[in-house]
Amino acid sequence: ALAGIAPAAAQTYPTRPITMIIPFAAGGPTDVVGRIVAEAMSKSLGQTVVIENVAGAGGTTGSNRLTQLQPDGYSIMIGHTGTHAASVALYPNLRYNPVSDFAQIGLVNTNAILITAKKALPANTLAEFVTWLKANERTANNAHAGIGSVSHTTCLLLHATIGVRPQSVPYRGTGPAMNDLVAGQVDYLCDQVVNVAPQVRAGTIKAFAVAQASRNSALPDVPTTTEAGLPAYQVVVWNAMLAPKGTPEPIVARLNEALRAALADANVKARLAELGADLPADNLVTPAGLRSFLEAEIAKWTPVIKAAGVTAGN
Ligand code: MLT
Repeated sequence: ALAGIAPAAAQTYPTRPITMIIPFAAGGPTDVVGRIVAEAMSKSLGQTVVIENVAGAGGTTGSNRLTQLQPDGYSIMIGHTGTHAASVALYPNLRYNPVSDFAQIGLVNTNAILITAKKALPANTLAEFVTWLKANERTANNAHAGIGSVSHTTCLLLHATIGVRPQSVPYRGTGPAMNDLVAGQVDYLCDQVVNVAPQVRAGTIKAFAVAQASRNSALPDVPTTTEAGLPAYQVVVWNAMLAPKGTPEPIVARLNEALRAALADANVKARLAELGADLPADNLVTPAGLRSFLEAEIAKWTPVIKAAGVTAGN
């Protein structure tokens, strides 16, 4: 497919709308971040960046879909710690290589994980939640966004830290999982802060702790896991922008420029800050920086998942 793209195409790019695959359902953190960035990129590229939600299998369905599309700059995606790092250890038959089957555009943001629960859960602190979870291990329901998703992997790490193995309920994204948590149909969810802060502020769910070193600016009243007595549980996850492998370098450079412009935009910065997302270091908002970051993240997550005894089966 690469041979069919003339250099002239890169000079006039983009001449039509660009599709951005979000590998999870609408209303979740990947969708929320993707829409904010897509809107800003549409302005600087002079073409609409259209969101397409391709959910399923913890985000691996949409990621795999991207690898099968033309590498012409008109198909990009937002991947994350689950789809492009944890998936390697969780899916023995993963159909894509998260590094070599993609053209890296840049890291988009990092997110803290919040331990959240339905309002009616009889625990008000992280310590009470741990006690409750140990006592109710056989009946407790953990909502997540599918095998290998961030919510799945990070709650499995929480379970390994506490020493429990409760049941899990998979969704097509934490947008729908959050709806059921608010409705009280599931007990708890390890979600990225960008999906959670508005619900916590509205009091429709409980947040026990944020699993990062310092408190999150969007939820300053929520303690860190260290403050709440579980210092071993620390998780920071990320979103990354990717294109199919073979996307011409000048087009990748144009997309990277648009991503950097989006992240420097005052309105985008304000919206991400309000949601509690953090901006990445500048050197990671580059194709080469993201590529080595992904390699390092795969190397980091693979032994962590193996040590936690986690497989796609639990
Ligand atoms: C989503 O956008 O729904 C989440 O990123 C899913 C997840 O990985 O937990």
